[in-house]
Amino acid sequence: MHNGNASTFRDFIVMMERMSQTEELPTATPHEIHARFQDPTHESSTSAEWWRRSVIYQIYPRSFRDTTSNGIGDLPGITAELHHVADLGVDAVWLSPFFASPQKDAGYDVSDYRAVDPIFGNLQDFDDLITEANRLEVKILVDLVPNHCSDEHALFRQALVSPKGSAAREFFIFRDGRGEDGQLPPNNWLSHFGGSAWTRITEPDGTKGQYYLHLFDSSQPDFNWDNPAVGDEFESVLRFWLDRGAGGFRVDVAHALVKAPGLPDWNGRADGADSPGYPFADAPMFGQSAVHDVYRRWRAVCEEYDGERVLCAEANVHPIEAMADWVRPDEMHQSFNFPFLHTGWDGKALKAIITRSLKAFDAVGAPTTWVLSNHDVPRHATRLGAVAPSPRDGDGLGPDDIQPDLHLGLARARAATLFMLGLPGGAYLYQGEELGLGDNTMLDPEYRQDPSFARTNGERLGRDGCRVPLPWDSSSASLGFSDSEASWLPQPQEWASLTREAQTADPHSTLNFYKEALRLRSAHQLGLGDLNWLEDTNTSSLLGFENSEILVVLNLGTEPVVLPAGEVLLASSSSALDAATSALLNPNSAVWISLHHA
Ligand code: NOJ
Repeated sequence: MHNGNASTFRDFIVMMERMSQTEELPTATPHEIHARFQDPTHESSTSAEWWRRSVIYQIYPRSFRDTTSNGIGDLPGITAELHHVADLGVDAVWLSPFFASPQKDAGYDVSDYRAVDPIFGNLQDFDDLITEANRLEVKILVDLVPNHCSDEHALFRQALVSPKGSAAREFFIFRDGRGEDGQLPPNNWLSHFGGSAWTRITEPDGTKGQYYLHLFDSSQPDFNWDNPAVGDEFESVLRFWLDRGAGGFRVDVAHALVKAPGLPDWNGRADGADSPGYPFADAPMFGQSAVHDVYRRWRAVCEEYDGERVLCAEANVHPIEAMADWVRPDEMHQSFNFPFLHTGWDGKALKAIITRSLKAFDAVGAPTTWVLSNHDVPRHATRLGAVAPSPRDGDGLGPDDIQPDLHLGLARARAATLFMLGLPGGAYLYQGEELGLGDNTMLDPEYRQDPSFARTNGERLGRDGCRVPLPWDSSSASLGFSDSEASWLPQPQEWASLTREAQTADPHSTLNFYKEALRLRSAHQLGLGDLNWLEDTNTSSLLGFENSEILVVLNLGTEPVVLPAGEVLLASSSSALDAATSALLNPNSAVWISLHHA
């Protein structure tokens, strides 16, 4: 039976009646799914270590909860509300940087790795947070930024006032410029945030001097990891937080620490994305083999501590097979799967990257991780609601851009999440996605703080849109984020109906949907399960697999599909299935079906 434009089962019936009255016979049948599977793509893990099946929730401290009424979130705010996160059923929280920092890159420019920035609180606040986390049995992972620090870090300040060639300069990557007067940078490397990756300094005697390397903002000088003193310093930082009870680390730009000898020119892209003639594998600033020795050392440090402390790599490495090198048995435990995040609404492409990921990580005995949102990319409710291609690769949307379809975005985001949470391995969630939040896509330039906005003269809007403070309740003008109306970025109007308080009371809310998905994921041990693709879903519009006797189906197409028999455990929304029989899965929807009870 062809269902034409039917969007619900009722529409479908009405249309069929109309067709039979006019004796117009249907020409095709809706796709029917059969529970037949291909050879296993991934066999279940026999190891019970927590990080093999974990769900880790990212807190972006400045946007979580403000207890000082200054419009910026803080550590006491996290401690006060952590029970909500624990209630979701996550294993751990990863905190984006809260260390002392001039905040030129929202804390990824650290001026003291052993101090809490006063805007977030102090070390006692961190200790209090650990106490509460222990009570709630949630681990706290700290964000370690070892590639670069802030230009206000004591070591960099010392380097600036020390002579060329001094031990102080050896902590960083200082070089003479090219050209007669050294007026050209030492090489042609570009900063991720736009412009040259080199900044020239004025020497202590007032003359124009050497350049220092910064793969990010000029306020973020890169450390020189060829210098053993840098390694010793970071081992000590690691121990500082482990001793205070940190459950481990998310490691920033974990592929970039070591640079190729001689710092050769590179005409490829600054972010390492392949460009003709310049494959990622040849980039002199990424993936150098000596970087792995750093993580072997850190792994050994973590293993001295109790409680399975972990390391997770933010290693923007591709192809995915190369990323697996970061999680070999003596290196990190997990690595973010960005290729999965960047795969769009396309079943074939998703199946391909999932299959490749599982194979690549299985080969080194590590779990694959899955992630759909974080503080660097438009949230998936925004991305998947795009009605026009994004004008800016990887950056957010602004008031002049075609706005996303929020309804479509939320439907697809919930479906994508349900699909993701059915996959074996570890999952990462970004604060606010459990409320179905999208970006603030209407931010005016005056609010933009991401350094990439200024460094590209506004050509790139930057990542502020996905970093907007959370809506908690209706108690204040900042929707309960702060006791005052202050919020360092304005919240979109539609968030008034998306507060945590409002969603707690609504059984169909995105929040309650996330809770149920996480509960079932844990009850059925899906994180440790195996994966068998359905035989007959090898198209861009339909995808399905079986894990631990649960069938996970995602409808990415425009037509409903007929589901096999079985008990529906969870659907991505109250309109995901046809109301009458639950036998049809509507477009932009996903479902978990227990085959055990078929
Ligand atoms: C990756 C972080 O996630 C991002 O926010 C930051 O700007 C860069 N690394 C530089 O530290």
